[in-house]
Amino acid sequence: MHRRNFLTGLAGLAISGPAAAQMMHDMGHMGANGAHDMAMTGGKPVLPEGQPLRELPRLLNEAGEAGLFKARLAAGPGLVRFADRLDTPALLYNDGNPVIEAREGDRVEISFRNGIPDEPTTVHWHGMPVPADQDGNPMESIASGSERLYAFDLPQGSAACYWFHPHPHGFTASQVYRGLAGIFLVKPKVDPIPAEYGDTILMFTDLRIAEDGSMPASNMIDVMNGRVGDHILVNGQKNPVFPARKGEKRRLRLFNATNARFLRLTFENAAMALVGTDGGLIEAPVGIDDLLLAPAERVELIISFDRPGAAKLVTLDYDRGWMGPGKPEAAGITLLTADVSEEAAPNVPPLPATLRSIEHLSKPAVTRRFVLTESMEGTEMKFLINGASFDMKRIDEVSKVGQVELWEIVNQADMDHPFHVHGTQFQLVEREKNGAVTQPSYRAWKDTVNVAAGETVRILLRQDLPGRRMYHCHILEHEDLGMMGTVDVRA
Ligand code: C2O
Ligand code: CU
Ligand code: CU
Repeated sequence: MHRRNFLTGLAGLAISGPAAAQMMHDMGHMGANGAHDMAMTGGKPVLPEGQPLRELPRLLNEAGEAGLFKARLAAGPGLVRFADRLDTPALLYNDGNPVIEAREGDRVEISFRNGIPDEPTTVHWHGMPVPADQDGNPMESIASGSERLYAFDLPQGSAACYWFHPHPHGFTASQVYRGLAGIFLVKPKVDPIPAEYGDTILMFTDLRIAEDGSMPASNMIDVMNGRVGDHILVNGQKNPVFPARKGEKRRLRLFNATNARFLRLTFENAAMALVGTDGGLIEAPVGIDDLLLAPAERVELIISFDRPGAAKLVTLDYDRGWMGPGKPEAAGITLLTADVSEEAAPNVPPLPATLRSIEHLSKPAVTRRFVLTESMEGTEMKFLINGASFDMKRIDEVSKVGQVELWEIVNQADMDHPFHVHGTQFQLVEREKNGAVTQPSYRAWKDTVNVAAGETVRILLRQDLPGRRMYHCHILEHEDLGMMGTVDVRA
C-alpha cells in the first residue's frame, strides 16, 4: 500500500469488528498529533528506577500429589502501583502476572474464572502443545462471570519458556495491555544448564500511563501500528537492578509480552550466549552480540558478568515500519542493570558445549503460502492474510495430523509482522528479501517468527494434535483487526 494514500486516508479511517466502537470513542479524544504525543507533554508520572529486581508471584499448586499441577486462576480488575502515590486501574490474573511452573509429564488442571466486567475472555497457552479445545481459542470464549476448566498433559520434550494471555476476538489487545499475561515455565526432568546459574524470569511489558495514573485507551495510531507505551517494564518495574559477582554466569529467560514492541537488545559490559528459543533449548550455545525479540518471542540467555561495574541490558535501533506520527524511539532504553561486584564468584561451572538434540523436520508433504497485506478499502484499514480478514466461522486451511508442511509467509506490507502458529513449534528454514536468501546457523524450535516488511520467511512445521488452530500476526491490534486465520488439523 502507498504510504501517502494511507496517511491522507487517516482522518476518515474506519475499522470494523468488536473493538471498533471503543476505538472510535477514543478517536474523539485525539488531538492533531494523537493522544500519545499529547500525553508526552506536561505532568507525566515518573516511574521509580533502580529498585531491586523482583520476582513475579508464583501460582500456587494446590495438588497434593506428584505429577499434577492444579490451581485456580481468575482474571479481573485491580489496582497496580507503578508510580509514586498513583494507583493504576488494570486487569490482573489473580494478583498480577503469575508464573506457573510445572514439569514435563505433569498433568495440568486450571480452573479459570472470568471476572472482567462486561467482556468475554479466554486463556491461551501460547506455544504449548495442548489439545485444541483447551487452547483458549477465540471460538471458545468465556463470558463475563463464567468459569471453565483448562486441562492438559505436558509431553516429554516440551520443557520451554511459554506464556499465557487472553485471546477473545476483538478484545485481545486491550486485555493484554491492561495487564493480563502470565508465564508458563515447563521444566525438564534433567536440565543441562548448571543450577549455579540461577534461573531468572524477565517479563517485558509496555506501559502507557496518564497523569492520573490511568492507562489511556488506544487511539488510531496505536491500532494501526500496535500499541507502544511510554515505559518498557521488566517484571512490572522500570530499569530494576540485580546484584552479580565478577565471573558469574546467570541464566535469564526473556519474554516479550508487549503488544507491539520490537526489542533489539544487547548486554553492555557482559557476554551473551543464546541457549534457548520459544520452544526450549537449542542444540549448543551460540555466542551473540545482540538479538531481536519481536512481540511474543522468548529467548534463554546465559550472561557472563566478567567485568565489575554496571552491566546494562539496553535496546538498539530497529526499524519495524511505522505509519503516521508518534514513531517511538527504539534505541537507548535501559531495561535492566546488573550491579557486578569486584569480588569474584566462587566455583562457576562451565556452560556445557551441547544442550540437547533437536529432530530435523524435512520432506514437507505440502506447501502453503500466506501473504500478509495492509490495505485501505475505502476508508477502512485492513490487515489481511491471503486477502481475507479473520472469520471464526471460516476454515482457511485443512491439514493432517503428523504431516510435515512448508509454510511460506510473504510480507507484502510496510510493517514487520511477527507470525505465530498455535499448537506446535516450528523450524525456520530460510529468509528471503530482495532476492537474498539466508539460512539460520542453528536449529531451533519457534512458535513466533518476525517477518520483516518485504521479506518472505519459510518454516517447517507439523501438528501432532487434531483440531482448529489459529495462526496470526502477534501485534495484537493487527490480530484483533483480522490478521488471523484458522487451520483445521484433521486426524
Ligand atoms: Cu500468543 Cu494466538 O497467541
Ligand atoms: Cu499462541
Ligand atoms: Cu502485524
